[in-house]
Amino acid sequence: MGYNVGLLGLGTVGTGTAKIMLDSVGRHPLLEEISIVRVGVRNPDKAREVEFETGVLTDDLASIVTDPNIDIIVELIGGVDQALDYILTAIDHGKHVVTANKAVISRHGDEIFTAANAKGVYVLLEAAVAGGIPVLTPLKQALGVNRINRVTGIINGTTNYILTRMKNEGANFDDVLADAQRLGYAEADPTADVDGLDAADKITILASLAFGGRINLKDVYCEGIRKIAAADIAYAEKLGFTIKLLAIAQGRRPASGAMPDEIELKVHPTLLPKHHPLATVDGVNNAVLVEADPLGEVMFYGPGAGEGATASAVVSDIVSIVATLKSGTSTNDNGNPLLRCSHEHYTRVASMDQSVSRFYARILTQDRPSVIGQIGLAFGEHGVSLESVVQIDVHDRGAEIVVITHKVSEGEFQAALQALNALEAVVSIPSVLRVW
Ligand code: HSE
Repeated sequence: MGYNVGLLGLGTVGTGTAKIMLDSVGRHPLLEEISIVRVGVRNPDKAREVEFETGVLTDDLASIVTDPNIDIIVELIGGVDQALDYILTAIDHGKHVVTANKAVISRHGDEIFTAANAKGVYVLLEAAVAGGIPVLTPLKQALGVNRINRVTGIINGTTNYILTRMKNEGANFDDVLADAQRLGYAEADPTADVDGLDAADKITILASLAFGGRINLKDVYCEGIRKIAAADIAYAEKLGFTIKLLAIAQGRRPASGAMPDEIELKVHPTLLPKHHPLATVDGVNNAVLVEADPLGEVMFYGPGAGEGATASAVVSDIVSIVATLKSGTSTNDNGNPLLRCSHEHYTRVASMDQSVSRFYARILTQDRPSVIGQIGLAFGEHGVSLESVVQIDVHDRGAEIVVITHKVSEGEFQAALQALNALEAVVSIPSVLRVW
């Protein structure tokens, strides 16, 4: 018996998905048993890279998600509302769903997985996080017997590409962004990438699997890379760091080892020591570092986007579902526990005030005696201990002082910054970044 797939969307990832499925030689033998029977597109008459038999292409996407002949719906149209509607309708009609849509899952995962569990169908989304890199399936399966303590990712290729070029060329953010847009590496509207929103969607999904609970996207602390200056990258380099946009999910487990009730969840640029495993992940590549007990550190690295890479993840999800269906696992009996979503409660996200890290601050001051002393005193009075203070430069606008603190809570550090800003000798504090 064969299995029928309905594809929604034939853009970059949809085209890549079709290419793999229509050219199955030398790939997993189950592909031979899977057919794309309908493809929903906006304009069926447009010339395409892949050819389908007459009647497969249609602009009636709603009829695909209700088609009784289809077993698996592959949602690759992107966006939120329309995609949600199709996914929920497909589930309601007893179809399994594969999606690459992190935005719809991070916002509506609750509704989607509750419906899927009630209906006994699977919703798989390996392609939604880190493109072609298998990371969700390992978290659910091979790593599932570990206690995960932290997941740290470079999970947005656009920002990693921009930061890498700023580092290599000593260039400013605006110039590199404009060039990246010209070359097609960044979207015309770069907001979701450069402001960290795309990474926030993805870390929500990673955290949910790592810590076994649903998460409210609005609880994720999110700061992008727009404010990073060429000067910060240069100073970080001199001090032995490289700046990366990190997405971090971590939770302290109780002594019993049980899942944490509360986790930290944040996306922000971070000064990473150059010896950190994520520090050398450059360009559009993604990487996810998982700290697991007893496994230790394991890092997943590779292409986080692109036609073939993302399609590889999509098709592997289709094959996983088909393999489970073929094995005869009854979906009425809660199905394959390695594929289904097994949690229904929410995990609390800690307030950012309690988060502890080292900080980097670049401070412009007047160039006169005792300024460094005053800065040290203001930090000290708020419980912030300094690891290093360097007067990097003196120019006509005054002196430029860079400090790196020891670990301190976000709340204490922000209070110290306010005190610093009130000092007459402090002209401005153009940059504050967290240090790993
Ligand atoms: N816009 C994403 C990135 C790719 O730059 O990594 C799709 O998730």
